[in-house]
Amino acid sequence: MCGIFAYMNYRVPRTRKEIFETLIRGLQRLEYRGYDSAGVAIDGNNNEVKERHIQLVKKRGNVKALDEELYKQDSMDLKVEFETHFGIAHTRWATHGVPNAVNSHPQRSDKGNEFVVIHNGIITNYKDLRKFLESKGYEFESETDTETIAKLIKYVFDNRETEDITFSTLVERVIQQLEGAFALVFKSIHYPGEAVATRRGSPLLIGVRSKYKLSTEQIPVLYRTRNIENVKNICKTRMKRLDSSACLHAVGDKAVEFFFASDASAIIEHTNRVIFLEDDDIAAVADGKLSIHRVKRSASDDPSRAIQTLQMELQQIMKGNFSAFMQKEIFEQPESVFNTMRGRVNFETNTVLLGGLKDHLKEIRRCRRLIVIGCGTSYHAAVATRQVLEELTELPVMVELASDFLDRNTPVFRDDVCFFISQSGETADTLLALRYCKDRRALTVGVTNTVGSSISRETDCGVHINAGPEIGVASTKAYTSQFISLVMFGLMMSEDRISLQDRRREIIRGLRSLPGLIKEVLSLDEKIHDLALELYTQRSLLVMGRGYNYATCLEGALKIKEITYMHSEGILAGELKHGPLALIDKQMPVIMVIMKDPCFAKCQNALQQVTARQGRPIILCSKDDTESSKFAYKAIALPTTVDCLQGVLSVIPLQLLSFHLAVLRGYDVDFPRNLAKSVTVE
Ligand code: F6R
Repeated sequence: MCGIFAYMNYRVPRTRKEIFETLIRGLQRLEYRGYDSAGVAIDGNNNEVKERHIQLVKKRGNVKALDEELYKQDSMDLKVEFETHFGIAHTRWATHGVPNAVNSHPQRSDKGNEFVVIHNGIITNYKDLRKFLESKGYEFESETDTETIAKLIKYVFDNRETEDITFSTLVERVIQQLEGAFALVFKSIHYPGEAVATRRGSPLLIGVRSKYKLSTEQIPVLYRTRNIENVKNICKTRMKRLDSSACLHAVGDKAVEFFFASDASAIIEHTNRVIFLEDDDIAAVADGKLSIHRVKRSASDDPSRAIQTLQMELQQIMKGNFSAFMQKEIFEQPESVFNTMRGRVNFETNTVLLGGLKDHLKEIRRCRRLIVIGCGTSYHAAVATRQVLEELTELPVMVELASDFLDRNTPVFRDDVCFFISQSGETADTLLALRYCKDRRALTVGVTNTVGSSISRETDCGVHINAGPEIGVASTKAYTSQFISLVMFGLMMSEDRISLQDRRREIIRGLRSLPGLIKEVLSLDEKIHDLALELYTQRSLLVMGRGYNYATCLEGALKIKEITYMHSEGILAGELKHGPLALIDKQMPVIMVIMKDPCFAKCQNALQQVTARQGRPIILCSKDDTESSKFAYKAIALPTTVDCLQGVLSVIPLQLLSFHLAVLRGYDVDFPRNLAKSVTVE
């Protein structure tokens, strides 16, 4: 995720300082979407045609660092006033290339900054585009997918067949070449005071503010009637013809401001009048008039875009309809899990490609063993996938808590492959374990959610889990994305194992249906809330299971203890008789995770042992399991998937339960006492 913000003032005089302030404030509102680097593009002077140029200021770090940098720019007179101006800004969460000034946005077409662009999303065919553009002599400076867009628009411009081609036509041609997801906003020295924005798969909306009456409440969408390759400049002609009826502007060409943003949180303080763009809409502002056109008819086939009035408060928008980031992140999992797989799993050919590992695959296949290392939730993701990794890689797999691994001076050899799982990529114990393994010449692999983090920089290769920024201290969506990433690694390793093909197909089919099934689990929220109402005054809560779901129990218990401050333990059901059974009586609440997998019969035994001691088990079970629910004090039935992926579904009710328990107990869910999001000390 990244945050896009752009601001156009048309016939509304603004000093450069005021423009900066608006851009920075917009970025600050979006910072939760990404905060590893940021940048702006503004006009370098008062827009006189002769000297037109665009100034870029970009900085590694958060928006505050960019803000400080802006005021250090000697060349910028802060008092200069612009009657009309278009500024674009971006806060980044790296997906391609480390966070630094060069890789941050806006990306540019050339050293003269003829075209600049900000982007949220991932362009999956950027390598092919880059190769093509390089073959045409375009020189790249960053490692980003976004730079190909900036170069591509210049290429289209340089090869235009008519001098007066419109800005939106250029953008239209560019997006026809793009695959993947994007929200884009463009600025160009060739089109001063104009803006073009478009989206496909990533959100983008436009706010409008004017003290004068607006020309319309519905902006009609213009469609191309013929293939644009055969039609020169049709857009411009049509827009001229449809000037007033097809455009939004302040009546009488009066002062108007437009705000473009990834979400409403950046716009609401300026205006509550917004237009939500649909996929493939191309929105262009020229002469203070906003028009929308598209090549294809929209899925909804709505011939116009309404100007809507937002009723929400800022805080509400930042967290959507959720009361806490943790809750929002739990509910984001259908999307975050999808993003983890996006562009990597090919459901048609049953193949998986993790770009960051492909050059090391041979070496990994030859290794002596895999060691998967992490802390807390990240360690649990390793526990959750150990069995499937053993099955698919046919290698011994050790899972290790980073601190314990170091305490033991664990023997590590040069033919070991060591995985380091970390959401933040900065956890001190995991980082030290990484350095320890590097010293022993093992191949090191990072699995992080933070491009450019220490772990992703210091490992030999890695996988970015693409879950988007996680703000709640209790990790939720990172866990499921780490889980999926490790499964994808196993699938990639087993591609040429004939005996495993049926199993691989089954797992890949399971991956495909996961986002939909996660939604189904999330729909149980109310039921889980009711359960929390019964449990929130308890002091302890046990969570028990085995096999693929042992990690679910560890992770569920960790969530409960860290945000509800209740005592909670994840218990391996196979160990019940060896001690924990002594805790069971009719008072002790115990959650049992019993799924239709190879451990089902053994879990039934554990269930009998619990009920025989008058325990009152709350059972998380498969939808089609009529047996377990007979013995349950309460049962929550979950959709089922392939055994090795079931943990992605069964952990979600426990995430939700911990959330509701914490709220009912009156605690701050996002910032539990004594804990930090990134633990950078040993
Ligand atoms: C629990 C939690 C922690 C982290 C642990 C490792 O909800 O968030 O247990 O999982 O501190 O952090 P990362 O994954 O950033 O290395």
